[in-house]
Amino acid sequence: MNTEKSVLITGVSSGIGYHCAHALKKRGYRVIASARKAEDIARLQTEGFDTVKIDLDDPDSIDRAVNEVKALTGGRLYALFNNAAYGQPGAVEDLSREALRAQFETNLFGTHELTVKLLPAMIAAKEGRIVQNSSVLGFAALRYRGAYNASKFALEGLSDTLRLELEGTGVHVSLIEPGPVRSRFRENALKKFLENIDIKHSRLAGRYEKKLAQLKSDKDAPFTLGPESVAKALFHALESPRPKIRYRVTVPTHLFFWLKKILPDRLMDRVLKSVE
Ligand SMILES: NC(=O)c1ccc[n+]([C@@H]2O[C@H](COP(=O)([O-])OP(=O)(O)OC[C@H]3O[C@@H](n4cnc5c(N)ncnc54)[C@H](OP(=O)(O)O)[C@@H]3O)[C@@H](O)[C@H]2O)c1
Repeated sequence: MNTEKSVLITGVSSGIGYHCAHALKKRGYRVIASARKAEDIARLQTEGFDTVKIDLDDPDSIDRAVNEVKALTGGRLYALFNNAAYGQPGAVEDLSREALRAQFETNLFGTHELTVKLLPAMIAAKEGRIVQNSSVLGFAALRYRGAYNASKFALEGLSDTLRLELEGTGVHVSLIEPGPVRSRFRENALKKFLENIDIKHSRLAGRYEKKLAQLKSDKDAPFTLGPESVAKALFHALESPRPKIRYRVTVPTHLFFWLKKILPDRLMDRVLKSVE
């Protein structure tokens, strides 16, 4: 394995990004770890990472980071792992335009902007890897997760198109589709739920009680895996001469993938409705 390859990872303050940053470093990569808060940047520096500060909601911070990454790598960034994102819970009927827009700003528009600003150097170098942390919810829709579903479905669509357009450039695009993975995802989703959804006045207030309990619980959802399951897929996406287009991680991802292939829509709806 080439020990000189640089990888930029977004959202390294916690969860999957944090684990993957350490795993890649251990494997010999030069990891440029990014986070949006100064205290996380300081912590990551003490852990031995090169760092850049990126808030995906802030185009200026993306511009600055792109320049810093170019300087750090001499314009030779090998890979970008677009990992940072959050989940906005709430029924579709309770989503304000602002909440939906905010979900897209982070999960799609910021991710897109960062990608296209780093892409020209990869194309010029005739090699590169773009790895998108999507989700099982990037192809299977569940209730009360409409904003997140929409953002990840959109990420899948954009990535599929990008992959076709980059054919022959030496730059590969892969999607990782994890199901439940241990991280701070639920905790962060709970904050967004309380911040942006008028829980008390919703037609679905009763259902939301369950949702709140679920988000507050520290009990793992069935088939939850550790973040090393994503790191394994990431290694392959970075190192295989023929990286996969999609990496399905966790049992629920495989299960929903196959059920969607074989079941008629209405039957599939029944399955999807059985998930709280
Ligand atoms: N955990 C799961 O079950 C699961 C399943 C499928 C897919 N995923 C995907 O895995 C990825 C990582 O999530 P995770 O599970 O590791 O959750 P997490 O622990 O909540 O980590 C999310 C990361 O994204 C960052 N982030 C959020 N908004 C940002 C913004 N505007 N700009 C820059 N960074 C931002 C967070 O930073 P702060 O600390 O500053 O908020 C944090 O570092 C996400 O793409 C998620 O959709 C997770």
